[in-house]
Amino acid sequence: MALDELETKCSKCRKCELCTGRTNVVFGQGKKDADIMLIGEGPGENEDLQGKPFVGRSGQLLDKFLASIDLSRETNVYIANMVKCRPPKNRDPKPEEQDMCIGWLREQFKIIRPKIIVCVGRISAQRLIDKNFRVTKEHGVFVEKNGVLMMGTYHPAAILRNPNNKELAFQDWLALRDKIKELGIAV
Ligand code: URA
Repeated sequence: MALDELETKCSKCRKCELCTGRTNVVFGQGKKDADIMLIGEGPGENEDLQGKPFVGRSGQLLDKFLASIDLSRETNVYIANMVKCRPPKNRDPKPEEQDMCIGWLREQFKIIRPKIIVCVGRISAQRLIDKNFRVTKEHGVFVEKNGVLMMGTYHPAAILRNPNNKELAFQDWLALRDKIKELGIAV
C-alpha cells in the first residue's frame, strides 16, 4: 500500500473516542521514504486545525533543532505522532487510545522504512523504546530495535516550559547528526 492510500484510510478512522473531537486527522508530514522519522505524542490545537504535526510553538522549536543539523520535513525527515487525533485539552493520550492508533504508525513504518526513529518526548519513547524510559536519564542514547536505531529526546513543549533543558536537547540533535554521518546516511 502507498502512504497516500494509508492516509486516506486513516482519515476515516473511528477506532477510538478521540475521533469525536477532531477537526482533522493528523496523519503525518514529510519525505515519504525518509531515513529519519520523528514520533511525537499527539496533535494539539494548531495541529488539529491544520491537519499537520508540530505546527504550533513546539513545532517551531522542533523545526529549529532540525534546521541546525540540516534536516527538515520538507527535504529529508518524516514526522508523525503516537495518536493521530487531538486528545481533549491536550491531555496525554491514554494507553488504550495508543493501542487503537498504533496500527497506523506500524503501517507508516512499513512503508517509509526509516533507519532512525527519534521519539520526541516521553509518551512515544515509553511506547516505542522502553516502557520505563526516563527522558532525563536516557535522552540521546541510541538503541537498536528490530533493525532500526531509536533514540528519545526532550519534547519541545517541555523545553518551552523549562528552557534549562534546551542545551541538553540540542546535544541530542547533534548526536543524531553524528549518527547519520556514522551510518553514511545521505540526507
Ligand atoms: N506535540 C506533539 O507531540 N505532536 C504534535 O504534533 C504537536 C505537539
